Amino acid sequence: MRNVMILAAGKGTRMQSKKNKLVHKILGKEVVNYTVDLAKEVAQNIVAIVNDDDEETKKSIHGVKFAYQRERLGTANAVSSGLDLIEEGMLLILAGDTPCFKLETINGMLEYHRDNGSDLTVLGCEMEDPTGYGRLILENNQLVRIVEHRDANEQERKVKLINTGVMLFDVKKLKQHISEIKNNNAQKEYYLTDIIEIFNSYKYKVLSYITDDFNQTVGINSREQLSQAQEILLDRIRKHWLNKGVTMVMPHTIYIEPTVELSRDCIIEQGAILRGNTLIEEDVVIGAYSEIIDSKISNGTTIERSVIKNSTIGKNNIIGPYAYIRPNTTTMDSVKIGDFVELKNATIGSKTKVPHLSYVGDADLDESINVGCGTIFVNYDGVNKHRSHVGKNSFIGCNTNIISPVNLEEDTFIAAGTTITKDVPKGSLAIDKNNVVYKEDGYYHIKGKKDV
Ligand code: UD1
Ligand code: MG
Repeated sequence: MRNVMILAAGKGTRMQSKKNKLVHKILGKEVVNYTVDLAKEVAQNIVAIVNDDDEETKKSIHGVKFAYQRERLGTANAVSSGLDLIEEGMLLILAGDTPCFKLETINGMLEYHRDNGSDLTVLGCEMEDPTGYGRLILENNQLVRIVEHRDANEQERKVKLINTGVMLFDVKKLKQHISEIKNNNAQKEYYLTDIIEIFNSYKYKVLSYITDDFNQTVGINSREQLSQAQEILLDRIRKHWLNKGVTMVMPHTIYIEPTVELSRDCIIEQGAILRGNTLIEEDVVIGAYSEIIDSKISNGTTIERSVIKNSTIGKNNIIGPYAYIRPNTTTMDSVKIGDFVELKNATIGSKTKVPHLSYVGDADLDESINVGCGTIFVNYDGVNKHRSHVGKNSFIGCNTNIISPVNLEEDTFIAAGTTITKDVPKGSLAIDKNNVVYKEDGYYHIKGKKDV
């Protein structure tokens, strides 16, 4: 197919928002971009109709041509604004506010349109609650017109067959007759749906193609519908991965964005949040209430109740509970990062352990190091950030401060409570003898002696 037009210049009044409803996000992706991605699967010439003062919408759409609607005078006026960019043949019109359509539905409609030599095909759907949608009015099984909810009488409002907003046109006939649409309706808008009656009056072939999957047709006009569409798309993503061999504990509580890749035999537990450009490899366990953003988690790793951003986690790591791994961190294989540990812009060598209550920021740790509880890499001097290095097999005692930049060579031993301010040579012990004074009976001088 040649042409797709995406209508994206509406006001979105019912959304109660400062911005265009189409740039609100579902699962990390703007509403309109679901339609744009679908359009890219079916046509080469894609034209998006945007409002000329709506920079935000324009910036969020890529790889299409733009046409501008100056005043929001209705869907027919929107289509007219872009017709100059449409080539001869067929034109598929999609509303930017219906993100749930599947490619197979659009392909089925295309085939039906072609096979029947149609001039105009409308995608319809039977809906339990059709409130707000335009209704398809059929006479003797023939689509005679579409009436908008606002303009419908009581009888027409009972009709459950709705207009999904997806239409296929013969371009020549559309260009010839679109200017015949008038704005004599409740909204004083030029409705594209009025073209049905016009085409019928010329005895053109007008057909409806009906899908029974109303989950594909939800149009986003309100926040409630935004959340409905999110549920529909989430359910689809979860089922996709369940069918690919992923185990989910309480799947209805798990959040997965469409950009996330999972692998077989990984286990995703309840309340997990997987966002952005994330890859979860085989046999990984993402424990309950963990959040992984733009990160790779390699084979066999277990994450317990932790947050990981923009990082790469090696194989067979054990992370958490309550670890916070910030951007640009890389861990090698068989690393342990324990409870209340924060890593940032760090590399952690294989078999190295940071088991509890530490901050490792801007540091490179080689393999088989033990970092004692409460160790802090002091990376910020109030003006600049500095980086430190720790050589393999080193042992860092509890409550150590490493004032960066320093280089601890391999096999160094740092005694508990030491503050390191300069490089430590290979194989040495660094110990801070802080001359504790012990005062006999000091306790009793302060607190008094209790009689026993
Ligand atoms: C539209 C259909 C209705 C259908 C419903 C399906 C018309 C007149 N009505 O109603 O029959 O049941 O979709 O979801 O077509 N837009 C513009 N410029 C405008 C007006 C709208 O670009 O001047 C765009 C909007 O951004 C939106 C799309 O067109 O993406 C549809 O407009 P909207 O206002 O949402 O129409 P509905 O009332 O939902
Ligand atoms: Mg709508």
